[in-house]
Amino acid sequence: MTFLPIMISLLVWGTAGGCLFVLLLNRRLILIPDSLVKKPLALLVFLSIMGGCVWAAFFLPVWPWIAVPALILLLALAGEVKLAWLRRRHAASPPVDSVPHQVDVFRPFTTMDIVTHRYEIGLPAWRGPAFRIAHLCDLHVTPDLPAEYYREALALAEQSNADLVFFTGDFVSTLDCLPLLAGLLRPLGRRGTFAVLGNHDYWADAGKIGAVVRKSGITLLVNESVEPELDGHGIRITGWDHPWGKSRAPFVKARDGLLHLVLSHTPDNIYTLSRASAHGVFSGHYHAGQVRIPGLGSVVIPSIYGRRFDHGHFVVHGTHLFVPSGIGASSPPFRIYCQPDIFLVDVAPGAG
Ligand SMILES: [Fe+2]
Repeated sequence: MTFLPIMISLLVWGTAGGCLFVLLLNRRLILIPDSLVKKPLALLVFLSIMGGCVWAAFFLPVWPWIAVPALILLLALAGEVKLAWLRRRHAASPPVDSVPHQVDVFRPFTTMDIVTHRYEIGLPAWRGPAFRIAHLCDLHVTPDLPAEYYREALALAEQSNADLVFFTGDFVSTLDCLPLLAGLLRPLGRRGTFAVLGNHDYWADAGKIGAVVRKSGITLLVNESVEPELDGHGIRITGWDHPWGKSRAPFVKARDGLLHLVLSHTPDNIYTLSRASAHGVFSGHYHAGQVRIPGLGSVVIPSIYGRRFDHGHFVVHGTHLFVPSGIGASSPPFRIYCQPDIFLVDVAPGAG
């Protein structure tokens, strides 16, 4: 084989191998709990696929074998078209303001460039006065970042004068960070602060992390619900831990006339929760990809739906879904062109 056909074959097989890993196999690998074997296993799978592709490019006849990677690329392209269509279908209102707004291609590392995005929504199910929710997620508290950074993030939520504050999981990645977390957490909402655990909390030790969250005065919801009142109007707030929580209790719909807000660490639960008539779902988990390409967005998202709900505000069959980027970072412990953020959601009655 001459040089040019080999290079073309290598390019086609290599791109197809990368697509196969990111679009198919990585969606299964992300469901495996963090352990000593997870990263070597992911690396082994990646190297096996890419090694196979290099072998095929060098040792298989270009024709007809080039049809195999071509078919994979065609399927990947079809997947991207479907993704664009679904994102357009579920697109909701963008933030009404973002403070401070920072997009600077000359500053790729954005690990601590925190931004607050504010959304306004109207919910026909809500008949009370307007109220504000501050939504924080994925603190991943670690001594690798200055404690002052986390204090600033929590102060932003507190100073927003939010009625309700939601923490939607991944407080820490490892148990040795628990004392640091205990020194930071406190109730921040004027009328309540609620939380749900995330996959990293479950993988580390849900019992110990949950105890710290509860001791801080925050209401932790482990596949359970509370029904606080805002000015005489009831709200049902549910913490939904699927798939990491051990409880297999079924999701219970709110009584008629009650606004139902659900805290679910992963947005992957959105279709189930939408079918159960939740009005708002507050998630996290994706970190908006942590590494984003300017103009293109996220690359890899730990979701069975890929990049469908990678970051922002969506409406799925009438259910509002909020997916912040989160505050901390993990695996890798930094962010590139991906600012950490807090969402403020101003809820008003009516059909906004
Ligand atoms: Fe996380």
